[in-house]
Amino acid sequence: MPETVKHDHLREEFNRWAEAGRGQGMEHDHLPVVLPALALMDLQPDENVLDVGCGSGWLSRLIAQRVTQGRVVGMDISDEMVRQARKASGGLEHVMFVLGSVDEIPWDAQFFTRVISVESAYYWPDPAKGLREIFRVLREGCSAWILINYYRDNPHCHQWGAKLPVPTHLLSAEQWAALFRAAGFAEVAHRRIPDPTPTPDVYSGRWFRDAAELAAFRAEGALLVHGTKPAGASPPEPKLRVL
Ligand SMILES: C[S@@+](CC[C@H](N)C(=O)[O-])C[C@H]1O[C@@H](n2cnc3c(N)ncnc32)[C@H](O)[C@@H]1O
Repeated sequence: MPETVKHDHLREEFNRWAEAGRGQGMEHDHLPVVLPALALMDLQPDENVLDVGCGSGWLSRLIAQRVTQGRVVGMDISDEMVRQARKASGGLEHVMFVLGSVDEIPWDAQFFTRVISVESAYYWPDPAKGLREIFRVLREGCSAWILINYYRDNPHCHQWGAKLPVPTHLLSAEQWAALFRAAGFAEVAHRRIPDPTPTPDVYSGRWFRDAAELAAFRAEGALLVHGTKPAGASPPEPKLRVL
């Protein structure tokens, strides 16, 4: 299937999510695992951060509270998500939202000091290409962080693939780490972040069989993978020619 068709499918699907209000709803679901990830990242006030697959922009706005002297760019393939993110972020001068896909990030090389992506990477049509693009827009010595709930080592999420109307990648932690290394990242590491949210007695949603499976899923936790762009990894700046 051509890449443009894959992008169209993703855009249409996530536009539907946005129109149904699911962009906002995801803050409630993802925050319990995002907060420990942000603590590990230890963002500094002057950083420039890219939020890939930003959805309705809640995480970009949260990061903006930490990087008060830097810039936050949220990027999403869904124009409806971007529209909602912009609408909810009026007045925040150092935050902006752009339409784009991770495999062709509409930004200059070496601009960002961090890249974060929450619950998005397993949808990317070509995760290896996406990680190479993230590597390109990062400065040397700076790091990329991917947080996902759908990965092979957690058996309690495997059923999602069949329920989602767009293709997904069910990779293990080691496979994600290998993709990071292949893109050029060093100091690649991964860890689990358990979700401490209390599980209700009865579960009536569509993603888990019952409350016990939801509890087991949360106990396994989200997968956080990160890596650093080493010094000397960028192509040299074009040299001035002396005539
Ligand atoms: C499950 S939502 C998560 C949204 C947000 N990160 C959050 O936690 O609320 C996945 C998001 O990734 C975006 N996405 C999927 N594939 C993408 C791609 N190739 N490039 C950029 N964004 C993508 C979707 O449009 C959607 O907004």
